[in-house]
Amino acid sequence: MMAAQETLLEGDPPRLIVVDDDYIVRETIGEALRLGGYDVTIAESGEEALDLLRTENYHLVLTDLVMPGMSGTELCQQISAMLPHLPVVLITGHGNVDVARESLDVGAADFVSKPVNLSDLPIVVERNLKRQALQSQRLMERSAAVLLQAVQALAQALDERDNSTAEHSQRVSDLAVSLGGKLGMGDEELYALRLAALLHDVGKIGIRDSILLKEGKLDDEEMGIMKEHPGKGAQILSAISDLSGIVSAVLHHHENYDGTGYPNGLKGDAIPIHARIIRVADAWDAMTTDRPYRPGMPKEVARKHFSDFAGRNYDPKITEFLIERIDQMYDPDSAS
Ligand SMILES: [Fe+2]
Repeated sequence: MMAAQETLLEGDPPRLIVVDDDYIVRETIGEALRLGGYDVTIAESGEEALDLLRTENYHLVLTDLVMPGMSGTELCQQISAMLPHLPVVLITGHGNVDVARESLDVGAADFVSKPVNLSDLPIVVERNLKRQALQSQRLMERSAAVLLQAVQALAQALDERDNSTAEHSQRVSDLAVSLGGKLGMGDEELYALRLAALLHDVGKIGIRDSILLKEGKLDDEEMGIMKEHPGKGAQILSAISDLSGIVSAVLHHHENYDGTGYPNGLKGDAIPIHARIIRVADAWDAMTTDRPYRPGMPKEVARKHFSDFAGRNYDPKITEFLIERIDQMYDPDSAS
């Protein structure tokens, strides 16, 4: 028999509650599941199971259907109201299959018939735990997709306010993710990098139009105000718990690799890696994109700038990847 913890969860074994009023049945089932690698707690009644669920976390409940006091169906209803994602497996007596089927309507995840085939029991439990894990994963993926869409909409609104930089945030984000991929980042990290790159200039929301939209050079005072935007952005994002992980990237996206940037003058590896990537992607896009008051810099001039400023403004490794990418994109002989 394959131990549950080897197949389902890393670390601690899944925690189950077995509920049955019959001592022999609950102990036998409990022992079979313990041998299957689960951490089993026994409850003599539905009420006792609910008390356990109120105080500790469990992964699944296996309950008898017919019990004195609270029935398995009632327990199932109460659990689905209290913990809607917790799977409940009903154990039915012979001939109670129809009742068990009805129980699926009140929130049971599955059922097994008595006499319980002990060797099948861990398979039933594992099947339901896996289904639950899959549903949770899908829910998380859907939440992540919704968050990304909301962030993209906000970034687009920001870009539209500063109409000289239409879709700037989206392009910076695409380039940043491409550079992050070259650095070997995994999906989760690239997702956070994408969010950070989309929102890197969110703090400009707090910069007045006369400065943000000024076409000429900013004077010292105006530049001072403009340099507040990473701090303002970090402040806005730190209030949103799902985005707290990208605060440091937004705060430090104008730091220079040699320590001459702002707001903190951080140097080298002390600058968060996402901020170093956004620094490069942001500068490339700003330089090479046409603005109403000036054309974009030719690619070869921008390439030389990055080559000259690697190790000064920009992380040299990231710059190397950027130059590699530029050469692939603009070399007609390249197979990219
Ligand atoms: Fe910025």
